[in-house]
Amino acid sequence: MTRYLGLPAATLLAAAVCGCGGSGVEDRPAGAEAARAGETSAVGGSDSGREPVATLLNARVVRTSASTEAGQKVDPSKNQGSEKSELKRKHDGSGPDPGDFYWQPSDASKIHDEPLAVKVPAGLQPLIENVSVPAANPITKGKVELGKMLYFDARISKDTTVSCATCHDPAKAWTDNMPTSTGIDGQRGGRSAPTVLNTTYGRTMFWDGRAPSLEGQAQGPPRNPIEMGDQTFEEIVGRLRKIPAYQEMFAKVFGTEVTLDGIAKAIAAFERATALSGNSKYDKYTAGDPKALSDSEKRGMVLFGLRLDQDDDFKTDVVLKKADCTSCHAGFNFTDEQFHNLGIGWDADKKMFADLGRWAATPIGAKNPADRGAFKTPTVRDVARTAPYMHDGSLKTLEEVVEHYNKGGHPNPSLDKDIRKLGLTEQEKADVVAFMKALTGDVIKVELPKLPPGPDGSAPNPVDALSAPGAKAAFRGQHALLQF
Ligand code: HEC
Ligand code: HEC
Repeated sequence: MTRYLGLPAATLLAAAVCGCGGSGVEDRPAGAEAARAGETSAVGGSDSGREPVATLLNARVVRTSASTEAGQKVDPSKNQGSEKSELKRKHDGSGPDPGDFYWQPSDASKIHDEPLAVKVPAGLQPLIENVSVPAANPITKGKVELGKMLYFDARISKDTTVSCATCHDPAKAWTDNMPTSTGIDGQRGGRSAPTVLNTTYGRTMFWDGRAPSLEGQAQGPPRNPIEMGDQTFEEIVGRLRKIPAYQEMFAKVFGTEVTLDGIAKAIAAFERATALSGNSKYDKYTAGDPKALSDSEKRGMVLFGLRLDQDDDFKTDVVLKKADCTSCHAGFNFTDEQFHNLGIGWDADKKMFADLGRWAATPIGAKNPADRGAFKTPTVRDVARTAPYMHDGSLKTLEEVVEHYNKGGHPNPSLDKDIRKLGLTEQEKADVVAFMKALTGDVIKVELPKLPPGPDGSAPNPVDALSAPGAKAAFRGQHALLQF
């Protein structure tokens, strides 16, 4: 079999809910992003999102002493005590302990939830505890159901018009099919909403990798609870606590009230269980069906950098790796999880990048000039459904993407060494596009949830938040909620 499984499983990290919205502003000091979002110093502090991030999560997992069996409670009080008292001290005398909004010790007697075994589509790595599912956030039935409601519930946004699904709609391959999403206050330069598909396998989150997994952060209450935009964590959680069904479900699933920690964990569990793309024509081919791919798709596969199955008698004279896409789009999820500069967003006249990407997300002292204008390699699974392309949504079609590579990217001082003129013929370009289209998977269909009524007895319709016109601006301030 020719399946390419390049990435060591142990280094793959769980993906997460995350902070969204444009960023990568040139003149903001490194670390400001993290500080604004109430992240710990460890976030974005690793050089390229390799071992340090894994170490961070592992360290947290190891320190979680409670049972990690699915369906059982994980008691973060075992390792978060000092953070909690820190918060308490900060807020002494000013009403209820705001730490309660972030995290509470769970009451095992209240938890009535069952483990959920997720069967991933063919071609994907199974979900493995400590690899793609953090031990502290086992996937359970009630949690996934709750996470789905929260994912589609616009009451998470200040003016209650924007949900996660506004920008990551499962019916649009978990994107919004828009070039960029509206940035948050003080941020210039938009970024395109990436797909949530297969992010459970991602080692870092965002185009610049500035966030590790959701849970790596979510286990600790944000140490720097500053107001984000025009809405605080307390307002978000306070609003959801007024919805009786959410209070009941949190008790059932986490044994707590509605907390920020629980919101993040539930949404992440929902994404892990459903935002998966596999069993594409390519996966059927690698599973042993030589007819699953057309001749053009097979030529594209070879140009892309993958060998044909040895039992396949198809003959072609195209040169293996001529397009050399597997230098970066490698492994079962077609990404090396690294950061590369393709020259997207480079202004040749002004000699500057619209968005510095990884460089801006790296702390002072660890900045690498090669990271200027470098972004995370996205998966190309389901890529036919996620147009437009690149971090700024500047390329409209897969043909334009292949043309960009064929001409050697946009020359600039940080251009990746693997980006060079390819000399593909028209037929070869079409073949590479055909191969990418053969990566369109069987996406798990997501039925819209029925949302619970609020204190006034009325329940919103999740459809109203799907691509609500002009609604994205209302999401300013939500960034913090997502940024774990
Ligand atoms: C206003 C549009 C918008 C909303 C609403 C939104 N996102 Fe995002 N999301 C984005 C953008 C833009 C990015 C990329 C930001 C960056 O790289 O700096 C992103 C990134 C992500 C990523 C990282 C994917 C990757 O490959 O790195 C995940 C996961 C994600 N969002 C999940 C969510 C969840 C869960 C919610 C709701 C709690 C949400 N988003 C709400 C626009 C949005
Ligand atoms: C040097 C590493 C590298 C190589 C080689 C490479 N890519 Fe990429 N690819 C990336 C990065 C990084 C991005 C995101 C860049 C950005 O947004 O600035 C990307 C983005 C893409 C996208 C857009 C995906 C999306 O969701 O927006 C497609 C499609 C794609 N690459 C296909 C290819 C094909 C086809 C080849 C071979 C011809 C190839 N790539 C070669 C690193 C690479």
